[in-house]
Amino acid sequence: MADPKKLFIKTYGCQMNVYDSERMAEALGGSGYVETRTPEDADMILLNTCHIREKAAEKVYSELGRYKGLKAANPDLKIGVAGCVAQAEGDEIMRRQPLVDLVVGPQAYHRLPEMEARTRSGHKALDTDFPAEDKFEHLKARPKAARGPTAFLTVQEGCDKFCAFCVVPYTRGAEVSRPVDRILGEARDLVERGVREITLLGQNVNAYHGAGPDGETTLAGLIWALNDIDGLERIRFTTSHPNDMSDDLIAAHGTCEKLMPYLHLPVQSGSDRILKRMNRAHTRDSYLALIDRLRAARPDILISGDFIVGFPEESDEDFADTLDLIERVGYGQAFSFKYSPRPGTPAAERPQVAPDVADARLQELQALITRQQRARQDAMVGQTVGVLFEKPGRLPGQMVGKSDHLHAVHVDDCAARPGDLCAVRIVSSGPNSLAGILA
Ligand code: 5AD
Ligand code: SF4
Repeated sequence: MADPKKLFIKTYGCQMNVYDSERMAEALGGSGYVETRTPEDADMILLNTCHIREKAAEKVYSELGRYKGLKAANPDLKIGVAGCVAQAEGDEIMRRQPLVDLVVGPQAYHRLPEMEARTRSGHKALDTDFPAEDKFEHLKARPKAARGPTAFLTVQEGCDKFCAFCVVPYTRGAEVSRPVDRILGEARDLVERGVREITLLGQNVNAYHGAGPDGETTLAGLIWALNDIDGLERIRFTTSHPNDMSDDLIAAHGTCEKLMPYLHLPVQSGSDRILKRMNRAHTRDSYLALIDRLRAARPDILISGDFIVGFPEESDEDFADTLDLIERVGYGQAFSFKYSPRPGTPAAERPQVAPDVADARLQELQALITRQQRARQDAMVGQTVGVLFEKPGRLPGQMVGKSDHLHAVHVDDCAARPGDLCAVRIVSSGPNSLAGILA
């Protein structure tokens, strides 16, 4: 038998890309590829790209430039670009970087094996369609190899919200939910292979409305169905939109034992004027009221968020409203970004905030978030929390894992193994992680 061909995949951006990369590797496994960790010995290099902010796309072009030498040394090397940059700039990538053989958008991954075969016969292959068929059904099933204790599982894709800054509705397409039975089948398979925690993924995951046994099922319905799978210990989901936070999902946070007390609920801005211009369709008060209801259902829930500073026409007062909202919510974790104009989105055409003003705001906001994050983490000292151990730590005998609230936790001289869920008493809090002892 011929040696297997080697595939190097580099993943940028969100967790959905991590999931998609796994599925693409499995699909190309059917064409005789095994994964390699180094581009130097690869027969195919695939960049799974992100288009959410400008820097993300630029990184792709500079990475491609770095492969010139490899391609010169090995003319059989095939180079492909997948993900959201592929979707948004497919033709331009082919023009701008002639060493690219293949461009595939996120909704066409099931066609990857055919496309790879075309490149082997000396052709270029480009597919950025939004086909009607279900790509996950056409992708090969995950093989039964053992896995680590945590996994992502995409349940919903695309977005119909059209926030004025965001490329997702254009690159990932309209909102689509996968049927319940397929998700449960995939989840059971993951659990058989050692997975203990599943994070359900979707750009608008709480808008999930997949076909179930009794008609459309909400995300809460799906979570309750997953809750019945023996061996699955933890369920998380991301990313949610405030307007799709339904009553049954809020209630599940109080009553569903496997649903973890953590919610990523981006607000983007604390100013009603800016929220309106962002086309977010919620207000600061409706968001704050939602946080109150979540905390009433689950008092210890850790709230995480996303913020954009320097959105077109953001004034000092608008920014002060954002800081005020952050003070009121008390975030356990947050991601913040300087506004980046994305071609084709409505906000890209509007008057921009001066870069130095946006930089200063970003710094101020991040300092506040860091303080809140640290305070929330420090407050865990003395508490006993559930920790799912994932792997050995840097020191001999040390194990690392994540708490229910998604804090990184390490335990020295630890008898636990990857996949064990243990009670851990937290003894100290460092810059990025907690230290504990088995309780
Ligand atoms: N500029 C800056 N940040 C953005 N995000 C999305 N689009 C942009 C943009 N054009 C941020 C939002 C979103 C997160 C994934 O990325 O905060 O929630
Ligand atoms: Fe983008 Fe999220 Fe808004 Fe959809 S809801 S357009 S994915 S920011």
